Amino acid sequence: MNILDAVRARKSIRNFLPDPVPKDLLSGILEDACRAPSANNTQPWECFMLGGNVLEEVRQTNLEQLRAGVFPEPESVLIDWPKDSVYRTRQVDLAIELFRLMDIQRDDHEGRAKWMERGFGYFNAPAALIVVADKCLPETGPLLDIGCFLQTFCLLCTANGLGTCIEDQGVMYSKTLRQIVGIPDEKRIIMAVAVGYPDWDFPANAIKSSRVSANDLTTWVGFD
Ligand SMILES: Cc1cc2nc3c(=O)[nH]c(=O)nc-3n(C[C@H](O)[C@H](O)[C@H](O)COP(=O)(O)O)c2cc1C
Repeated sequence: MNILDAVRARKSIRNFLPDPVPKDLLSGILEDACRAPSANNTQPWECFMLGGNVLEEVRQTNLEQLRAGVFPEPESVLIDWPKDSVYRTRQVDLAIELFRLMDIQRDDHEGRAKWMERGFGYFNAPAALIVVADKCLPETGPLLDIGCFLQTFCLLCTANGLGTCIEDQGVMYSKTLRQIVGIPDEKRIIMAVAVGYPDWDFPANAIKSSRVSANDLTTWVGFD
C-alpha cells in the first residue's frame, strides 16, 4: 500500500475481531513509527503495548469504574471545546453519524451508555498501545511530537491490514492503568490506541468522517 492509499484508508475503528495481532508485526510497526519527526530529535514517546491478560484486566477495571461512576483522572491535557464553536459542532456531527450507523436513538440512554463503554473497553481490541512521556518534560511539550508518532503508527497499521482508534477514553482511569501495567511514577500517561484487525461487519466501522476542505482553511500567501 502506498502512502496516499494508507492516508485515505486510515480511519478510526471502533470494534475489532478477537484475532490476536502477532507481536513481531507490532514490534516492526513500532520500530518504523519511531522514524517520526520530533523537535530536535528528542523522541519523547515511550510505549507500553498491552495484550492478553493484562489488557483484559485493564479493560475490566475501566468498565467497573465507569459503571460505578468513578470520576476519570487523565494525566495529560484534554481539550474542551467552547459550546458555541465550530469544534463543538464537528464533535456533535461525529456523534450523530456514529449513533445513526449504530441505530442509537437520542433518548436511548442505555444504548448511549453501552456505546460509551466501548471506548473504555478499547473497542474489544486484542492489543492497546499506551504512550507515555517523561515527567521531566513540560506537560504539553511533547504532544506535537507524539502526535507525529501516533499518526505514523496508525498509517503503518493500516498498511499492514490493522485498524486503530486513538482514544483518550483508554487513559481516563490512569491510576489503575498505571498500577496494573506497572507504569513508573516518573512517566506521564498521554494517550491510548486500540489496535487489531477491524470487524468490518460492525456498523460504526462504516463511518467516513467528514473533513473541511483545505481550500477553506488555507490562506495562500505569495502565490499567484
Ligand atoms: C487525540 C485524539 C483522541 C481521540 N479520542 C477518541 C476517543 O476517546 N474515542 C473515540 O471513539 N475516538 C477518539 N478519537 C478518534 C476521533 O474521533 C477520530 O479521529 C475523528 O473522528 C476523525 O475520524 P477518523 O479517525 O475516522 O478519520 C480520538 C482521536 C484523537 C486524535
